[in-house]
Amino acid sequence: MTTTSTTTSAPSTAHDASPGALRFPDGFVWGAATAAYQIEGAAHVDGRRDSIWDAFARVPGAVIDGHDGEVACDHYNRSADDVELMRSMNIGAYRFSTSWARIRPDGVSGRAGINQAGLDFYSRLVDDLLDKGILPWLTLYHWDLPQALEEKGGWTNRDTADLFTEYAGTVHDALGDRVKVWTTLNEPWCASFVSYTAGAHAPGRQSPADGLAAAHHLLLAHGQAVRELRSRDASLDLGITLNFTVADPVDPADAGDVDAARRIDAQINRVFTDPIFKGAYPVDLLEDLEAEGLADGFLAHVRDGDLETISAPIDALGVNYYHGEAVSRTAPPAALDGVAPTERPTRSPYPAADGVHVHPRGLPTTAMGWEVQPEGLTRVLLRLQEHYTGPAGVRLYVTENGCAYDDVADADDHVDDQDRLAFYDVHLRAMHDAIEQGADVRGYFAWSLMDNFEWAWGYHKRFGIVRVNYETQSRTVKASGRWYAEVARTNTLET
Ligand code: NOJ
Repeated sequence: MTTTSTTTSAPSTAHDASPGALRFPDGFVWGAATAAYQIEGAAHVDGRRDSIWDAFARVPGAVIDGHDGEVACDHYNRSADDVELMRSMNIGAYRFSTSWARIRPDGVSGRAGINQAGLDFYSRLVDDLLDKGILPWLTLYHWDLPQALEEKGGWTNRDTADLFTEYAGTVHDALGDRVKVWTTLNEPWCASFVSYTAGAHAPGRQSPADGLAAAHHLLLAHGQAVRELRSRDASLDLGITLNFTVADPVDPADAGDVDAARRIDAQINRVFTDPIFKGAYPVDLLEDLEAEGLADGFLAHVRDGDLETISAPIDALGVNYYHGEAVSRTAPPAALDGVAPTERPTRSPYPAADGVHVHPRGLPTTAMGWEVQPEGLTRVLLRLQEHYTGPAGVRLYVTENGCAYDDVADADDHVDDQDRLAFYDVHLRAMHDAIEQGADVRGYFAWSLMDNFEWAWGYHKRFGIVRVNYETQSRTVKASGRWYAEVARTNTLET
């Protein structure tokens, strides 16, 4: 992979670091991440049209307080300043997504469906990044399907995978001369099961069968896009970003709890890793679906050759990690799921949900209610290295990790977020542990560069290492951001 010089000043040598400081491998990529709908705004400007998130945000009760991405962080108009801000923070790589609804607004096939103004925006962004020595890390799909395609069935319609492949080619035509790292999808688990089964995310459908169909078509879209991009340029660095959990039984001696943990693992992790790396859906998942009467309907979507396409070789796996789960077959005293308490009811994202319950363990939690469990990151990375990416010769990147806390800003918008800083510190240590134990982790991206639209939670949850004042749109680097800039500059974690 091409790595760009990441720092404004030379990394310190081991000699500068204090004894016991943790040093990361040479060339380690320090990045920050965002996504189009969460930051861009300008939702109906220069030819962009509704994505499923614009439409969903208009559904009464779907997003807390009716927030939407119409303005968001106004990044569409401030991208040059945001890039300069990243440079000042020693960010070496910027993980962003392109908006399908900006580039092919009506989801129409062929040249006529292309919105040049949308492509021009990303072209300027990429030029600015390269100018400042920041590696562009492009994700093609971070959940903002054109609404026109949802009206034709969205991800439950197999044609959407073909249209995604065409869209990938369109973006490559415009940016392929400068962008070398391409991620097909961000968190297909959310884009399928949270969106088409739980109904907590756009388009808000609540059907186990639809979630399963969406998951398969997303995987197909990924595999097809990998083939398309690879055939255009064999030197591209291609991958996908998945969200991972570690599922532990509440009582390891209880066979029912152990089985509940297995089912969560199958329905969040292995439903994606197994087809991508092993070319097959997990047998135990199919058995669980069979028991729910869902297997035949699901397998009807899986045509000959699909799994071969889905398992097309990739170069990098993006790992998004936030927390693990303690799981049992009995209901917990209180729910712990991080799902926004919107007025519109949601259901479980798990197609085979019966007898699967997530329990609070009394660990510290973030403002999302998510337990802080850094050793889960070590375990996820080591498991992937051993069973999935290692045997396939695929590099690992932590493409998202971070936290929301209830930030308190002073009159100048300064935030002394020691809680967030501590969260990053323990997770970077956990990642370092995994590297020391053999995980081939090449980079880390903080989620998020700046506060933004946190989906069904709207602007109520702040994940940024930079504060956004939504009234003035001013950006102020938080204490965690200053600390992260120093980690990025020195490639070292001080003790
Ligand atoms: C994962 C998603 O990719 C991102 O969009 C979201 O904001 C974070 N998780 C935090 O929930």
